[in-house]
Amino acid sequence: MATLTIIAGTVYGNAQHVAEQVEENLAQQGIDCVLESDPSVTDFTDADALLVITSTTGQGDVPPNLEFVFSDLKDESPMLTGKPFAVAALGDSSYGESFCGAGKQFQALLDELQATAVADLLEVDAMETLEPEKDVVEWVNSIKDKLIA
Ligand SMILES: Cc1cc2nc3c(=O)[nH]c(=O)nc-3n(C[C@H](O)[C@H](O)[C@H](O)COP(=O)(O)O)c2cc1C
Repeated sequence: MATLTIIAGTVYGNAQHVAEQVEENLAQQGIDCVLESDPSVTDFTDADALLVITSTTGQGDVPPNLEFVFSDLKDESPMLTGKPFAVAALGDSSYGESFCGAGKQFQALLDELQATAVADLLEVDAMETLEPEKDVVEWVNSIKDKLIA
């Protein structure tokens, strides 16, 4: 059976917590997952399917733990043709234009590398929820059949 690679981008631990909740929920349903918080390019190229769960830092920036892999993927441009993926972005709409910037950057990069988006970017606004894991777990459950066969 295929394995879902969950990539967590986090500064203060919120997105990590959300990713752990998603992993636990999918594991309970018998879906194999690996959770990567310090991924390399091969974690992306070897994955059967990819779920990126990332917060945004600075002004629309990717969290430091994903900074290197993000720039390596840009530089190396490995083709991820047809690989199913989805991105959940944790952000805060009080940051205006840069709301969920890191998630938007990942969605655009994976599109560029020709992976297949199975859903639109999920934007989770800290101004609207104190329990982002609820929204993300529910969303993942609604797309899991497209993400992982
Ligand atoms: C210094 C700082 C900068 C931030 N910049 C942005 C931003 O540009 N856009 C955004 O949508 N959210 C921004 N946020 C909000 C975080 O993405 C949000 O609080 C998220 O839940 C943090 O998750 P984490 O603990 O996994 O890093 C910022 C938060 C901090 C503390």
